[in-house]
This record gives sequence, C-alpha cells and structure tokens, in this order.
Amino acid sequence: MSTNGKLQGKVALVTGAGRGIGRAIATKLASEGARLVVNDLDLEPVAETVDLINKSGGQAVACAGNVTATDFAERFVGKAMEEYKGLDIIVNNAGYTWDNVVQKMSDEQWYAMLDVHLTAPFRILRAAQPVIRALSRSDKEKSVVRKIVNISSVAGLFGNAGQTNYSAAKAGIVGMTKALAKEGGRLNTTVNCVAYGYIKTRLTVGAATEKTENIDGRDIKVGVNSDLLALMERSIPLGRGGSAEDAAGAVYLFCIPESNYVSGQTLMCTGGLTGM
Ligand SMILES: NC(=O)c1ccc[n+]([C@@H]2O[C@H](COP(=O)([O-])OP(=O)(O)OC[C@H]3O[C@@H](n4cnc5c(N)ncnc54)[C@H](O)[C@@H]3O)[C@@H](O)[C@H]2O)c1
Repeated sequence: MSTNGKLQGKVALVTGAGRGIGRAIATKLASEGARLVVNDLDLEPVAETVDLINKSGGQAVACAGNVTATDFAERFVGKAMEEYKGLDIIVNNAGYTWDNVVQKMSDEQWYAMLDVHLTAPFRILRAAQPVIRALSRSDKEKSVVRKIVNISSVAGLFGNAGQTNYSAAKAGIVGMTKALAKEGGRLNTTVNCVAYGYIKTRLTVGAATEKTENIDGRDIKVGVNSDLLALMERSIPLGRGGSAEDAAGAVYLFCIPESNYVSGQTLMCTGGLTGM
C-alpha cells in the first residue's frame, strides 16, 4: 500500500464491501492510504476484505451487519470514531435487486429495496452529520473536505422494466444526494453519486435463470440471461461490461482532492452509455 497516496490518513467507511464493487472500492481507497471501516451483511466476506487490505499493508476493521437495522448507522459511524477518531469518506454501496413486474411485486419487495438503497444511506448520513460537524469544527486545517459518495444505477436515471422498486430507490438516492450536497456545503462536505450501468459482479454475471443467492435472509434470483448480457455489451460504446475495479475508479474520483469543488453530481459509470 502507498505511504503517500492521495487519501493518506483519511478514514473511509464503505457498506456492502464484502464482495463485488464495494470490495473494489474499499481496496482502492486503502491502496491510496485511507483507513477503512468495512461493512457487509456477514462477517465472513467482511473479514476477507479486511484481511486483503491488512495483508497488503493497509489498515481496515470490520463492521458486519445489516445496513437496514435501525441501530446500524450509529454503530457504523461509532466504529470509525472508536477505531480511528475520524471520518472523512462514506460510500453507501450495499444493495441488491429483487425484481418483478409491478402487478406481481409484493409490498415486501417494494419496501426491501427502499430500505436498503434509500433509508439505510439516509440513516447513515443522518448519524454522520453531528460527527462531521464536530470534527470539522476541530480541524486544524480549515481546508479539509469530507466526501460522501452514494451509489445509484441507470435504472434510477432511466427506469428498468421489472425493477419498479429498485428504480424508485435508485432515483431517490439521486435526489437525496442533491439535497444533502446543499446541507453539506457549510460542513465542507461534498455529496455525490455514481450511477452504474452494467458492471460484472454476482448480481449480473451468469446464465443464471434459476441461480439464487441468500441475501438478507431471502433467496433472491441473481444473474442476467446471457443473451441479454451479450446484447447489453454490444450497446455499450466501450464494447464491454465494466469490472468492479472500473466501478471503484469512478467513486475514487469523488474522493480525491481534485474533486473538492464538485458536489451534488451524479456521474454515470457506464462505458459510454448515455441513455437506455
Ligand atoms: N453490478 C451492476 O451492474 C450494478 C449496476 C448498477 C448499480 N449497482 C449497485 O452497486 C452496488 C453494489 O452491487 P454489486 O454489483 O457489487 O453487488 P454484489 O452482490 O457483488 O455486492 C453487494 C454487496 O452488498 C451486500 N449487501 C446487500 N444487502 C446488504 C445489507 N442489507 N446490509 C449490508 N450489506 C448488504 C451484499 O452482501 C454484497 O456483498 C449496489 O448498490 C447495486 O445496486 C450495481
């Protein structure tokens, strides 16, 4: 790990960082010198990410648990303060999809997506506000800028059939980002959003018409039909789906000092797709 990285000494919290995009974000931030608080639902994937970072000379601690639990936000923010006495970057990444056409979508399905993609980030940022306010008052250098990065999707920007719940939640996080960018200004905190297109993770890869993963106690169908994936890749100007590392790069851009005057924005990380 770098000792003179762009994020040297910063404290970064990443949800859903036990695998996929979240893990790539956590390892990228750590490789640039940030000290990490790593969250995922279960301890095992979290411990793997923590090990990966610590074994490469970085610094990370685990904060396993469901981001939708009512006490999670305080625990998460508290962990950063307890371990590192600081909080500089929060990435709200945890989530999954639970699709169905609207006439077959249950209330449980609807609220599950709002809970994980919208309410959980709201609670985390609500819990972080007084901590950031106190830290910013005691900053020796008044130029310290803190960074919030929320994760959205092209489904939130353009809509996706079968994803009324997910599209609504991912559109909601764009609005929340804009509102909090206005509130965060006086705390020298930028609030931005990254909207992904097709990134190859367990959520999207695989023929998987029948493949399920147990997420948050529910067996959720994952993966996208391979014909559809091939079609999607052909419509991406860069000609391929993104890797988790490609995805992490877009978040990193909002975390570095060069983006200190950029706030309230949604960056599409889609390989060049500008619509759907
Ligand atoms: N992969 C894509 O193409 C794509 C596209 C658009 C947006 N996204 C978004 O990117 C984010 C990361 O997705 P990914 O593709 O890396 O998926 P992934 O399944 O590989 O990783 C997501 C992680 O979040 C964790 N998680 C889910 N619910 C959680 C909860 N309640 N509490 C704590 N952790 C939880 C999972 O256990 C998992 O480790 C999600 O918000 C997703 O909606 C992904």
